[in-house]
Amino acid sequence: MDTGRVLTILAFVAVVCATVPDTSITITVDRNEEYQTILGFGGSFSDSAALNLYNLSSDTQDKLLRAYFSSDGIEYSFGRVPIASCDFSTREYSYAETPDDFNLDDFQLAFEDIDYKIPMIQRASAMSSRPIKLLGSAWSAPGWMKTNGAMKGGGALRGLPGGYYYKTWALYLAKFLEAYSAYDVDFWGLTTGNEPTAGLFPGWDWQCMFFNPELQRDFIKLDMGPILHDRGHKDVEIVIMDDQRFHLPHWAEVVIEDPVASQFVSGIGLHWYTDFLIDASRLNETHHAYPDYFMINTEACEGYLPWQEKVILGSWERGESYSHDIIEDLSNWVGGWIDWNMALDMIGGPNWVGNFVDSPIIVNAEEDVFYKQPMYYHLGHFSKFIAPGSVRVGSSSDRDRLVEHLAFKLPDGDMALVVLNRKEFTFPLHIYDPDVGYLNAEVPSRSIQTYLWKSPSRL
Ligand SMILES: *[C@@H]1O[C@H](CO)[C@@H](O)[C@H](O)[C@H]1NC(C)=O
Ligand SMILES: *[C@@H]1O[C@H](CO)[C@@H](O)[C@H](O)[C@H]1NC(C)=O
Repeated sequence: MDTGRVLTILAFVAVVCATVPDTSITITVDRNEEYQTILGFGGSFSDSAALNLYNLSSDTQDKLLRAYFSSDGIEYSFGRVPIASCDFSTREYSYAETPDDFNLDDFQLAFEDIDYKIPMIQRASAMSSRPIKLLGSAWSAPGWMKTNGAMKGGGALRGLPGGYYYKTWALYLAKFLEAYSAYDVDFWGLTTGNEPTAGLFPGWDWQCMFFNPELQRDFIKLDMGPILHDRGHKDVEIVIMDDQRFHLPHWAEVVIEDPVASQFVSGIGLHWYTDFLIDASRLNETHHAYPDYFMINTEACEGYLPWQEKVILGSWERGESYSHDIIEDLSNWVGGWIDWNMALDMIGGPNWVGNFVDSPIIVNAEEDVFYKQPMYYHLGHFSKFIAPGSVRVGSSSDRDRLVEHLAFKLPDGDMALVVLNRKEFTFPLHIYDPDVGYLNAEVPSRSIQTYLWKSPSRL
């Protein structure tokens, strides 16, 4: 080794020491400072996820499902289900292809539902010790209901809320719930539609449908709310927006400040795609304005920016970016976080428009194997340990810029602390719970850890 190199390394070490004075960190947990209740964590039963799963042998399929849902896995409690096709399908289709069929007499599920998604959901539910909350989201109505005559491209429902097309669209959502119920698959919630603002762009390459907050408010009030009620689905939670955080708080203001629409709504759905640009203080602001409405992240994936590599096997940076976003959201009153496709193939598909991205599980069908990515393990720190019904409680550290952390009171009263260290340094850690004492540990560089301890009454 040449001397120049040794000197450079020494110089680096010297800088490191100079920028990390006394490196120990103390995190104090305050179980009496209570924030939001946790709804859960999960991923999406997209067509692509289901097609990839069923491209494996039945033993390998079981292993993949167990990795997400069983107690030997990361115990997901949420599943988002696209209603008919989206870009993560192998084709464009809806459940009502007969023009002017306003009563939806010809409504029928597709083979993707019957042969793939429904069996996948049934198997996942059977191996899960927690109920799986299903959240349906539609990307678009059939073309004949829309101003642009197609599922893809910019366009909205024809006419106005309260009119034929809006009513038929609400009926379609109710019929979707009923068709899945016939297979004993019942939904916890429906969003008002995936990324409604994509429908503004005439050149949008895949299924989308425009709503602005005013149209969405009137659709909920005049069509979706009353029709779901009348058809016996009043317990299905309606989640508005289902789009990027920059629409807040305005979107919530328009919908929730309407005295009628607000009665049908339960929460606000968020997508993570602009989180690196838009400050999370908007979430806190929205919560304080509308404290009775939950917020939940309904979609996220890595590799979505045009210049990014799509699938990167073994990327710990991508794992960190998941847990960083989860911690940021949950620090600002978000109650749950749902990932996008549960499984993609080696190129990040299939996707009929080539919009490939990454996934926590990548399937290599040729070899009959799948790869659990760092994103899977990062998500698992939340989904496995922070059971639905947990309450986020206060945690503060004397060095907040070094590590990210979140504390929870679990449903059984025990405590959990998740600590994310995205720095290159290892820190001694002291966790202080005034009711119990100190727990002394170490946070390795570039790590995520979850600490669990019993409440004093259970010691
Ligand atoms: C959250 O919003 C409330 C109400 O506007 C404000 O008082 C509080 O300081 C905010 N908290 C943070 C962490 O920004
Ligand atoms: C299933 O895997 C094979 C490779 O073994 C691939 O060619 C095919 O496209 C896959 N099918 C789907 C639906 O992804």
